[in-house]
Amino acid sequence: MIITPMPGPFGAIVEDVDLSKPQSDDMLRALIAALHAHQILAIRGQRLTDADYVAFGHHWGEPLMFHLPNHRKDDFPEMIRISNAAATPERYRDGAKFWHQDSSYEAVPASVTMLYGAEAPAQGGETLIASAVLAYDALDEDRKARIEGLTGLHCLGGSPALPGEKIPFIPENTAMHGIVSHPLVMRHPVTGRKALYLSGSAFGAEGLEQDEGRALINELRTHCTRPEFVTRYKVETGDIFLWDNFQVLHSATPIEYSDEPGKRRLLHRISTKGAPALCRMADVTAA
Ligand SMILES: [Fe+2]
Repeated sequence: MIITPMPGPFGAIVEDVDLSKPQSDDMLRALIAALHAHQILAIRGQRLTDADYVAFGHHWGEPLMFHLPNHRKDDFPEMIRISNAAATPERYRDGAKFWHQDSSYEAVPASVTMLYGAEAPAQGGETLIASAVLAYDALDEDRKARIEGLTGLHCLGGSPALPGEKIPFIPENTAMHGIVSHPLVMRHPVTGRKALYLSGSAFGAEGLEQDEGRALINELRTHCTRPEFVTRYKVETGDIFLWDNFQVLHSATPIEYSDEPGKRRLLHRISTKGAPALCRMADVTAA
């Protein structure tokens, strides 16, 4: 297995590994450590069955079942199908084109998300990633002290949109999930590293007036997505692209909705909650 830093401020490429074969605990630990160190990983050149991919996904935590049943894959409810089919209803198009951390509108948000590329368009379809740990580290000490201990308030589609964002606000989904709270400065559950938790569901903070809370969220989300903290990756066929939701925000870029060869995109997403079983074991050993 060869791990090489990506060009840009963070991220790594993983090559010379075949995940269709059984994986040793040592190899899985190395991959998990690489994700925690590099924030995002692209594992290239895979040819996996659905069963292979789902088995791999289970190593990263407990896979979540997405709230839109028609996005699930029948035999494997852990897998969410993401396509740019021409029949996609208008209100679901470019629905991830805003900065967010996955499932942040739930009490237990997603820890790791992975996309397996089944088909990639010749042009477009990149994912933007912003490092919430680098952005936190760059804050001055006064700012860090001011936000330490604040609790962010989240609801689906709740954030004030940044320029160019299309934050999806679908009232029935928002009502279904209600309001949840997460620390504004999140400690990574495995590494303990601090990061801003500023998903597109954040709309305020406990103890702050509504306008003050919105202004703070807007200011910090603007800071977090400054160009020096942002990189991009296009998922190609055979890639597994993983990100650590406790270290990064992500945003889709606009894509053409088409069924034509060369323009189609098909991704299979798995998101997990909680820590990888191997990390829990490692933590107990280390303690
Ligand atoms: Fe997402």
